[in-house]
Amino acid sequence: MDIFRTRIAPGKTVGLLGRLTELLRSTRDRKSSDHASAVGVDDLEKFFDLSSDLLCIGGIDGFCKRVNPAFEKALGYTSQEMLKRPFLDLVHPADRARTIEALDDLARGLPVAQFESRLVCQDGSARWIEWNTVPARDSLYAAGRDVTERRVAQQMIEASHAELRALVEQQAALRRVATLIAHGTSPSDVCASVAAELTRILDNRSTGLYCFSPDGMSMLVASNTEPVGGSAHGAPHPVDGESIAARVFRSGHCARIDSAQNSEVAVPIVVDGNLWGSAVVGSTSPDPLPPDTEARVGDFTDLLATAIANAQAHTQLTASRARIVAAADDARHRLERDLHDGAQQRLVSLGLALRSAEASADTEPAALKEQISDIVAGLNDVSADLREISRGIYPAIRSKGGLGPALKALARRSAIPVDLDLHLDPRVPESTEVAAYYVAAEALTNAAKHARASGVHLQARTSGTHLELSVRDDGSGGADPAKGSGLTGIRDRVEALGGQLEIISRAGSGTALLADIPMDAP
Ligand SMILES: Nc1ncnc2c1ncn2[C@@H]1O[C@H](COP(=O)(O)OP(=O)(O)OP(=O)(O)O)[C@@H](O)[C@H]1O
Ligand SMILES: [Mg+2]
Repeated sequence: MDIFRTRIAPGKTVGLLGRLTELLRSTRDRKSSDHASAVGVDDLEKFFDLSSDLLCIGGIDGFCKRVNPAFEKALGYTSQEMLKRPFLDLVHPADRARTIEALDDLARGLPVAQFESRLVCQDGSARWIEWNTVPARDSLYAAGRDVTERRVAQQMIEASHAELRALVEQQAALRRVATLIAHGTSPSDVCASVAAELTRILDNRSTGLYCFSPDGMSMLVASNTEPVGGSAHGAPHPVDGESIAARVFRSGHCARIDSAQNSEVAVPIVVDGNLWGSAVVGSTSPDPLPPDTEARVGDFTDLLATAIANAQAHTQLTASRARIVAAADDARHRLERDLHDGAQQRLVSLGLALRSAEASADTEPAALKEQISDIVAGLNDVSADLREISRGIYPAIRSKGGLGPALKALARRSAIPVDLDLHLDPRVPESTEVAAYYVAAEALTNAAKHARASGVHLQARTSGTHLELSVRDDGSGGADPAKGSGLTGIRDRVEALGGQLEIISRAGSGTALLADIPMDAP
């Protein structure tokens, strides 16, 4: 069968291929003149050799009959090698089906213009060639131009457009999450939104957010898919083995698994310097997740960490307010009890004693004298009691003489020897002084009560904007704020002024309370 029987209409071909076709036609038309035919063939040879385009005459048997030197230059094969192989062999496997379709068109007599496909070079690389091909009798005439550079440039432009689009989508998604956080949305709702946004921007990959507990348990708090197996929402399960979440739990860093079956990336969620949980993105496609996945997920986990830190700070603030109110009530209650059981009881009994003295005034002067002296002693005791109670209510000496004398008085009254080192600015705001006084008082009381210490070193210094107080005992150590209310109370007091209290107390190494209190507190 003559598969190339239809000729191309004049004017349909372009450039060099057009000229070649014309030459062939004129060569055929001038068969009667050998001289004219010889000139045409010479011209063809020159075109063949000079052209930087790839020129080829193919046969219906699927082999090239003629290729020009440009082929060798572009693909690395010698002309002989080219002629020995079916030309479909050189076509990149991914482009073969399209090429066969184009060959079918040519077989039906249709020209094929601007058809792009890849040819595999001798060194294994591929080059994009744009073909213009026409069928003629039992041959086809093909002119190809190497457009690899243009293709690469196009791919780069497309990639940068895709990158830009992804960036815009990512920024819009981050803005939506940030808006939720700004409106005080609960962390669980922010988690759900982050899972949904990650799925959206990461091409529908599955996403799960896990919360870790210090005892090695992990809990799924949000995901875009229905939880499976042991990962049910809210059900804790151990983070052991080689799961990607377990790797994050152990290392505190991003983890990635790329296998033949799937690709997973996990990013830690770090709240106030502590590992809170992990965001895990997974894909069942054989392609690994893109290399920027960790960074893109990290932008969301950073925002989520802010939401969680805000919520935790809010919870802590509420708890601390409740403790301050409870402590104030407690102090009033203790005061009422001390006055009732102590001074008030004594005053009542002194009143009764006065009545009985009144009754014996005329009859028993000797007994009266003795009773009056008992009453005087009793009044002295009451006075001492009241002094002791008022000292516990507020450090009166501080308001009279400032923090230095108040700390000296505390040191004098301490049951264990106190070594003082004071460098204090006389103008320390009252709230700062009161906080420092209570920290020192609690530390000295604790040292006497719990530490079995032989001495305490108390240092207080002001440094322009802050007051630094440290109280160190050489006792047993092991102070634990959870076991009482004194340490928590002074921490609340210091933090209420924007300061910090550090408790260092390893068993056997004594206890140090380090307070840093701002001097510009309201
Ligand atoms: N200097 C210390 N040395 C050793 N253990 C300490 C020291 N200070 C505190 N502790 C331990 O820490 C616990 C908590 O101390 P905290 O001051 O909060 O409560 P408390 O002294 O027991 O009671 P209160 O509420 O009356 O202060 C104490 O019960 C004690 O076990
Ligand atoms: Mg205490």
